[in-house]
Amino acid sequence: MQAIRAENLSKFFDGRAVLDNVSFSVEKGEIFGYLGPNGAGKTTTINLFLGLLTPDSGRATVNGVDLGSDDEARRRIGVLFENNGFSERQSAYENLRYYGRLYGMEDPDGRVDELLGMIGMADRAYDPVGTFSTGMKRKLGIARAILHKPEVLFLDEPSSGLDPDAQRMVRDLILSLSATGGMTVFINSHHLDEVQRICTRVAILAGGRIRAEDSIARLTASGNESSIWIAFEGGRVPEDALLSLRSLPGIAGTELEGEGIICTLTGDAKAPDLISALVAAGYRIEEVKKRSANLEEIYLRYVHTGEDAS
Ligand SMILES: Nc1ncnc2c1ncn2[C@@H]1O[C@H](COP(=O)(O)OP(=O)(O)OP(=O)(O)O)[C@@H](O)[C@H]1O
Ligand SMILES: [Mg+2]
Repeated sequence: MQAIRAENLSKFFDGRAVLDNVSFSVEKGEIFGYLGPNGAGKTTTINLFLGLLTPDSGRATVNGVDLGSDDEARRRIGVLFENNGFSERQSAYENLRYYGRLYGMEDPDGRVDELLGMIGMADRAYDPVGTFSTGMKRKLGIARAILHKPEVLFLDEPSSGLDPDAQRMVRDLILSLSATGGMTVFINSHHLDEVQRICTRVAILAGGRIRAEDSIARLTASGNESSIWIAFEGGRVPEDALLSLRSLPGIAGTELEGEGIICTLTGDAKAPDLISALVAAGYRIEEVKKRSANLEEIYLRYVHTGEDAS
């Protein structure tokens, strides 16, 4: 069942299309990464799902309904806003309790205590939020987003400002919410290594359009068909290897990476032929790996070339 769905969604600001006929969907229980450069329209998309903005055309639905007109459905959604959105004068405790009530919880105190403990902020519970650091506010924002155990969670840049410990805490939390509670999670993020670790699928938004929407495994596989990494005896790249490998048949390009060289193969070349050619040319090879493209390379390719896979 689809938990989140954008259908031909368009949004204009000052006559400029920020979203231009955007469609994608997220299955229930998925952890979905929504990627794109600054100003691409990611936060705008979340605001359309939440019903805080109205689309100029198309539909944005969560669990099949338009949240703008359904308060009950909105209570089943959790949100971490880009700017947290807390009352800075009130304490962490008061803020969370207020939101708990807003979400229809009769007695949120126990849950508030539990979450403040979980994010390691029990000792600051009664301090005004205005006195907190960036990362502390972020952690509190995440606690608020999951306070009422929502079915669908929207997280706008969850790890921005977090230290490595807190990033891991948030990552583990998202994974466990999804694994044990079947929660659907929609994440706007620029932390591509994090996205690669936790998301099942991603969409890449650029120039107002979805450039790619697929599983990370498929996206990265499509980018690495023809590249292998070679390390040489002694762990050092021979002096002339970078250039002389380029002249071998089957190699389109070479590039240093770590202790070895990445060879990009020409369209019809096969890795075993390349290895034989290297051995015949006198190179002593210690390790050969088929190289996987990472999400960052895939992202940059779609964003910069305007290539379109959808
Ligand atoms: N209320 C608004 N009025 C006018 N323009 C807006 C408004 N909200 C957003 N925009 C514009 O829409 C575009 C998309 O903004 P949005 O905040 O959705 O980007 P984003 O992908 O979340 O970027 P970032 O990665 O920086 O958070 C930007 O050009 C922004 O200036
Ligand atoms: Mg944003």
